[in-house]
Amino acid sequence: MSETGVVRENLTTLRKHLRAREEDGGLRRVLEAVALAGKSIAHKVRRARIDDDVIGQAGAQNTHGEDQQKLDVMSDELVLQCLRECPEVAVYASEERDEALVLKTASEGGRFCVVSDPLDGSSNIDVAVSVGTIFSVLDNDQPDADTEKSALQPGTRQRAAGYILYGSSVVLVLTLGDGVDMYVLDPVVGEFLLVQERLQMPAERKIYSINEAYADDFEPWVRAYLDHAHANGYGSRYIGSMVADVHRTLLKGGVFLYPPTAKAPAGKLRLLYEGSPMAFVVEQAGGVATAGKERLLEQVPEKLHQRTPVILGSRAEVEQVQSHI
Ligand code: AHG
Ligand code: MN
Ligand code: MN
Repeated sequence: MSETGVVRENLTTLRKHLRAREEDGGLRRVLEAVALAGKSIAHKVRRARIDDDVIGQAGAQNTHGEDQQKLDVMSDELVLQCLRECPEVAVYASEERDEALVLKTASEGGRFCVVSDPLDGSSNIDVAVSVGTIFSVLDNDQPDADTEKSALQPGTRQRAAGYILYGSSVVLVLTLGDGVDMYVLDPVVGEFLLVQERLQMPAERKIYSINEAYADDFEPWVRAYLDHAHANGYGSRYIGSMVADVHRTLLKGGVFLYPPTAKAPAGKLRLLYEGSPMAFVVEQAGGVATAGKERLLEQVPEKLHQRTPVILGSRAEVEQVQSHI
């Protein structure tokens, strides 16, 4: 196995590799629980339209007034169910829940706060386009009476973060703050197998990823950047699932942008369970993640569901975007 790069043996399971990468057994158990939830969600995603409880709307709205898909709610329940098995989980917060859920205070052994977008890109389920789960793990840094506030920490405080992409293969990408490791689910053995460790994203690549349907809404700096991209032979790729767009950017390079629009003046993506975890992964892979001028990981959250602009990707490409701000 090389120092960085592709792993050949393909026999290193997530469980085995975590033991080599993280000595905190409690944190390992949390990540293994998230991976287990990911395997269950992957199974459900693969059976969309076969099982009638997978696609379509759940008939309720989340805190953002967005219609919840059945799989949004199911994924959220699956993640929570798996985390409940971990004695050290203090708090679970998710896109699908108005408030953070306190499972255990610090004096009851609750050490970690897990924040998640249990199903990202859910509008794509019905048309069999890649979706994902995004997760972020923080220390429970609060006295018992304020346990739920442990979710409101800047991204620099994350212990671990990553995502599971339900695409042509099921890919788990994870950082513990010491590089980014990538695993692929082997459906035969039912294990996430290590395929690459200490992944580094390309330093530059002329690909930009943005929803240009909002072009008339964009602030002048975004339009100036797009003029630059159009005039300099950039490619454009946009899937509309953040996990899929970020994963492609991580592996191929380029820049992903969700800037403020008229519809979403603070940006559409949520800081705690989309921006921060993705920023942690991108930075650990040698990339850059900003909310515009400022580093995304240093954004201090005041509200659980607060939104943020997101510009992340290869260093050269993010700097090119920033040169127009
Ligand atoms: P979610 O399904 O968790 O609400 O997230 C959807 C997000 C994100 O996945 C994607 O980058 C973005 O919505 C796409 O938004 P537009 O359709 O406005 O481009
Ligand atoms: Mn999302
Ligand atoms: Mn979601």
